[in-house]
Amino acid sequence: MDYAKALKEGVIRKPSNFICTISDDRGEEVLYGKMPISEVFKKDIGIGGVLSLLWFKRQFPAYATKFIEMTIMATADHGPAVSGAHNAIVAARAGKDLVSSVASGMLTIGPRFGGAIDGAAQMFSNAYDRGLTPSQFVEEMKQKGENIQGIGHLIKSIHNPDKRVTILKEYAKEHFKSTPLLDFALEVEKVTTAKKDNLILNVDGCIGICFVDMLRNEMPKKEADEYIQMGALNGLFVVGRTIGMTAHFLDQKRLKQGLYRHPWDDIAYMTD
Ligand code: ACO
Ligand code: LMR
Repeated sequence: MDYAKALKEGVIRKPSNFICTISDDRGEEVLYGKMPISEVFKKDIGIGGVLSLLWFKRQFPAYATKFIEMTIMATADHGPAVSGAHNAIVAARAGKDLVSSVASGMLTIGPRFGGAIDGAAQMFSNAYDRGLTPSQFVEEMKQKGENIQGIGHLIKSIHNPDKRVTILKEYAKEHFKSTPLLDFALEVEKVTTAKKDNLILNVDGCIGICFVDMLRNEMPKKEADEYIQMGALNGLFVVGRTIGMTAHFLDQKRLKQGLYRHPWDDIAYMTD
């Protein structure tokens, strides 16, 4: 039999090079999971619904998709001085295009800035699952000489609370089925802020920890833990902050700002 005919009749199958389980563009309209794009709009599932279909392969209930959207809104921007925006601005002023400038900012997202969401989810859930008390967890991390991911902020403190954190944690307390990990984290925060007033539960920590509570409420614990181990949650900051970095790029171009050079008097030259 001719190869093309055999393939068409389903007698033989060409081995596939890769597998995709999340979307399909072969039909008349693209599918997100099993949902046609027309249905996505008809049901008005929003960004939170689209994200939950594509990232977690299920349609989360409304309280959860709203929480996803809140994390994106809360992380969209935090002014020009933070690592990511600063890099994006410097790149834009060096004449780079939008994608390069945003990518330059994106590459600063990591364990100190914006990319502590997964680390916080992993560290706090691990300590909670092992039955450690908040003090034992803080002490254990101190013994290891490691900073607790999701704790600490350069400008926010108990005297200057981060409104984003207040909004997200109040929403979780009001709308989530249960919040055992958030409750644990708030006890940890009491221990760390007693040491130093800026060692608060920060926005990364709050998102990571609330997300664990949400995922464990909406799927079996084993599956939720897999997502946490995979490092899915830093993606929330990436999605959110793309909005802000794009805005900073546009701002610099609109203002026709020239090449940036850091002033000499702000650098301690210590070459001797
Ligand atoms: N856990 C435990 N102890 C901490 C932590 C932490 N996360 N952060 C700081 N400390 C302690 C330090 O060990 C140090 O103690 P010492 O004075 O006894 O030596 C003291 O607090 C000051 O440490 P610094 O490194 O000077 O703290 P700073 O305020 O400069 O750091 C930072 C802020 C970088 C955010 C830090 O707290 C940190 O690494 N946190 C974890 C990472 C994180 O969550 N980043 C996300 C921040 S939010 C965002 O980017 C959107
Ligand atoms: C941010 O969202 O970028 C911040 O919380 C970090 C900062 O230093 O303000």
